[in-house]
Amino acid sequence: MNVHDSRAIEEILINSGYRKAESQDDADILLVNSCTIREKPWHKAISETGRFRKIKGIKDNILVGLVGCVAQQEGDNIFNLLNGIDFVVSPDNYNSLPEIIKKSYVSKTGIALVGFGDGSDDDFLGLKSIYPSESSALVTIMKGCNEHCRYCIVPSVRGPERNRSIESIEKEVRNLTEQGIKEVTLLGQKVNAYKHEGMIFSDLLIRLDKIEKLERLRFTSPHPRHMTKDVTDLYGQLRTLCGAIHLPAQSGSNNTLKSMGRRYTREEYLDIVERLRKKIPDISISTDLIVGYPGETEEDFKETLSLIKEAGFSSAFSFKFSPRPGTPAFKLDNDVSEDEKSERLSRVHEIISKQEFEFRQSLKGKNLQVLVDGKGRLDSQLSGRGENFQIVNFQHSKSLEEMFGKIVTVEITEVNSNSLLGVAVEK
Ligand code: 5AD
Ligand code: SF4
Repeated sequence: MNVHDSRAIEEILINSGYRKAESQDDADILLVNSCTIREKPWHKAISETGRFRKIKGIKDNILVGLVGCVAQQEGDNIFNLLNGIDFVVSPDNYNSLPEIIKKSYVSKTGIALVGFGDGSDDDFLGLKSIYPSESSALVTIMKGCNEHCRYCIVPSVRGPERNRSIESIEKEVRNLTEQGIKEVTLLGQKVNAYKHEGMIFSDLLIRLDKIEKLERLRFTSPHPRHMTKDVTDLYGQLRTLCGAIHLPAQSGSNNTLKSMGRRYTREEYLDIVERLRKKIPDISISTDLIVGYPGETEEDFKETLSLIKEAGFSSAFSFKFSPRPGTPAFKLDNDVSEDEKSERLSRVHEIISKQEFEFRQSLKGKNLQVLVDGKGRLDSQLSGRGENFQIVNFQHSKSLEEMFGKIVTVEITEVNSNSLLGVAVEK
């Protein structure tokens, strides 16, 4: 989400006459795009902003601004935490950044602009133009979240759910593909809960699949509760829908899922996995997991370990539970010790790395569809990404200029730690 927002901010500022600085030293305006999903990124945002603020003492006419979820969370209070910063602007207000920057040059006090937009089509940040080096783009289809999982700060910093019209989404995707984008990732905090004037997520996928110049369609992040049959049935059916999905599970224990307020069971989650594998047997499924949620016993945790195996995740992001202010879980007894959380996290890592390794090894000898986006390590090689984001380097006689943005079938011959090596299969 923040990668998309940073890119959109870049476009907004460039369109108002600013230029992207080559480096921090070269910059007159320093912006920190922040995340507050856990305590650690919150700290990082505050300390980076503090570091930038010190530059103000050394160089004249520098502006320092904080944007992103910490901006929404702290608002005016940021000026108590960090005096001397020039502005805070929350995600729904980025279109006003040029105006805020102008005001900041003359204002004696810091300026805060936070709060949520109305969710109209104009309220969604979209990209109008792309760089020649881009073949993939992120497109927001809904924002905010009404789910209120008990640990999660997102509903309070990203606001209530708002959906963009199908026409506006399609227009952006068409415009991007006309400029050379081949792969689009649809974005939303609960992306598959998308609904607008009687249209639902599966309708949107079917509609976008018809865009001829679009080669690949992905989305992030779906909620298992909305992974209904109409969506899973589209796997293997839609030309563009990738055989890879990121489906946050959070826990494998029904007790923990219940107290997290996730509103699905382990069995229901595994049923989705089964439905997906029926459609695409070698689909790669990745997930998010939280360890050490209040009340999580060793037995509960073992259920998470067994879910990793049973679901056959090919990779996972795993996190220690982090109490977030204002969430219901903040008030719960944070009873799993820090040491225990670390120990659980390393047990998750152990199984995940083994499965990741096995998954990558299983690709040897297989043909992958690779979207070419760069040069390989050797001059005679091209490089690109498979459907599961694996980096694939392969020999090719044609130049990058000729092949950029094309999808090539590549047979994988070698599996290295960070990339795969292969040869193009002539059709
Ligand atoms: N503590 C730890 N992890 C969290 N996540 C969200 N909130 C918290 C929290 N309070 C994780 C979830 C989510 C991912 C984006 O971050 O796994 O899917
Ligand atoms: Fe947070 Fe996702 Fe739950 Fe919404 S669905 S509250 S964004 S974890």
